[in-house]
Amino acid sequence: MSVALRFRLNHEDVEIHVQDPAATLLDVLRTDLNLTGTKSGCEIGYCGACTVIVDGAAVPACLQMVGLLEGRDVRTVEDLGGPDGLDPVQRAFVKCSGFQCGFCTPGHVMALRALLDQEPDPGEERIRQTVDGNYCRCTGYAKILDSAREAVALDRAHTAAGEAR
Ligand code: FES
Ligand code: FES
Repeated sequence: MSVALRFRLNHEDVEIHVQDPAATLLDVLRTDLNLTGTKSGCEIGYCGACTVIVDGAAVPACLQMVGLLEGRDVRTVEDLGGPDGLDPVQRAFVKCSGFQCGFCTPGHVMALRALLDQEPDPGEERIRQTVDGNYCRCTGYAKILDSAREAVALDRAHTAAGEAR
């Protein structure tokens, strides 16, 4: 018997039916909803590859039981932007070459998006704490940190210009 769950997903009300309420949000996003921008890495909450935003906070989708999402608000990287208009955080990664293979990038982008939504002007320590929660095997982090600092500036300019996200 399946269980019906209703929640907000990327600004739309959705109802899904799951066989196992203990399934992870990561599995449901990638397998049932075909939202594969959220990456699967360690699946034990360490690597940050699966970071999504739930009720405004960055959370690892691999530790989020889907059965606990009733009535909650979920955002994935698919919500942020596409070829016609990137989120300021995504633009910062492009501008500063903050990725190589790109596997870790959605997690970094979502973690930074959640940070900037809560703290529009984070200092260097908060930026480093946020980046530190996401493993990257390619870049050595210098360009990711450059991207994160640039994201703060671009997001501030975006907000000042009154543009929608
Ligand atoms: S896959 Fe979720 S934290 Fe690594
Ligand atoms: S760019 Fe390859 S893991 Fe970060």
